[in-house]
Amino acid sequence: MTRFTLSVLRQAFALALLTVLYFSAPASAADANLGRQKAMMACAVCHGPMGLASMPSAPHLAGQVPDYLAQQLRNYRSGKRAHEVMAVIAKQLTDDDIANLAAWYSSIKITVEPNP
Ligand code: HEC
Repeated sequence: MTRFTLSVLRQAFALALLTVLYFSAPASAADANLGRQKAMMACAVCHGPMGLASMPSAPHLAGQVPDYLAQQLRNYRSGKRAHEVMAVIAKQLTDDDIANLAAWYSSIKITVEPNP
């Protein structure tokens, strides 16, 4: 084989590899809109429709960093973080639910102001 053929083959191989890598990327990116729909049904009663808690013992979730939210939900689900109510709720969430819910709550814009 000539040097030229080898180089063409190498390029074709690299292209094929890139194509495979591109199309095998995870199909489901977190979907904040699906997260919002889920949150309205399963979370809003305590954490408020916009992630500002509507009951005194529940924390605000609006604007929280997504990795933290997802980690806490996984911790409740696995039992690593113990809480009677959140454990029951988190056990019903799939990995996709968790990613979507984290995307939704973190997408809510919040502003903070210092006390005058
Ligand atoms: C019945 C009320 C109730 C419902 C419904 C509820 N939560 Fe909670 N949630 C709580 C309470 C109370 C806590 C505080 C638990 C603790 O002390 O660990 C909490 C804590 C959390 C935390 C940890 C926040 C932090 O700052 O560490 C996350 C995340 C969370 N909830 C997400 C959700 C999501 C997502 C849903 C819906 C799928 C949901 N919760 C539904 C009451 C609720």
